[in-house]
Amino acid sequence: MSAANRDRRDGRGGLMKALVVNNEKGGVGKSTIAVHLAWYFAERGNRVLFLDLDPQSNGTATLAAHASDIDAAALFARTVAVPPMASAGIRVLGGTAALRGIVAVDGKVIEQFRSNLKDASHAYDIAVVDTPPTFGVRNLAALIAGQFVLAPIDLDDYAIDGIETLLKHILGVKQKYNSDLEFLGLIPNRLQTTSPRQRNNLNSLVQRFGTKYLFDGVIPQRSSIGEALAEKKPVWRLSKTAAREAGREMRAVFDKLAIRMETA
Ligand SMILES: Nc1ncnc2c1ncn2[C@@H]1O[C@H](COP(=O)(O)OP(=O)(O)O)[C@@H](O)[C@H]1O
Ligand SMILES: [Mg+2]
Repeated sequence: MSAANRDRRDGRGGLMKALVVNNEKGGVGKSTIAVHLAWYFAERGNRVLFLDLDPQSNGTATLAAHASDIDAAALFARTVAVPPMASAGIRVLGGTAALRGIVAVDGKVIEQFRSNLKDASHAYDIAVVDTPPTFGVRNLAALIAGQFVLAPIDLDDYAIDGIETLLKHILGVKQKYNSDLEFLGLIPNRLQTTSPRQRNNLNSLVQRFGTKYLFDGVIPQRSSIGEALAEKKPVWRLSKTAAREAGREMRAVFDKLAIRMETA
């Protein structure tokens, strides 16, 4: 366990664990996984802070039932008193157009974000941070302030090409700015289980990155996941058999993740 994790357990540094869902590519399932993680952790009795750093704000829309009147953009600009949460649930600091204005890589902006997140850490158990599909100051700030990062990837031929760069960025931040950041791994999402090409790509990823950088689990492509998002519900809450099965698959992955994060 890192020193920072020990501090958090001792209650000295606040108890919250910030998990960043990051990939500078769009459409890989960051928001899908981030909102499901928020639901998952809340159902397990955690107070979850959801930060949407993407002005496209898909996660904010899906979690609209948990909206607050604070925008995530404010965290970069000033000291923000995030209202504490007394019991299990989700509070969303939403993504808005104002995030588009936060582009310059500026140490003060990053430090403001980090300090706001630290202040909030006394009143929450988990922060889930959804990020935009660009490697800019918002992603950088999230990786500098976070304790864990998970990187959803898809298994298309084109997507594989970007993985080296993604790893370089994440590991670069860890090395330079945040030694406490734990990289939970690349998680293949939308795996087309019957596609030989996708299976091949998965195998070559295993060979290239092994267990060090590849998360131990995959999320298959399931149409009920899209249906669940449209209904703003976790896939395991839909009553169709196929959705319950998709929910089981996803939760099996999250159970492993929670163990890695020591919240299980
Ligand atoms: N495992 C999955 N099975 C089926 N559809 C998925 C899955 N994961 C994501 N999707 C769909 O893929 C699209 C892109 O996902 P999204 O989470 O918005 O990606 P990102 O946030 O990385 O841009 C969405 O329409 C979403 O419903
Ligand atoms: Mg997204």
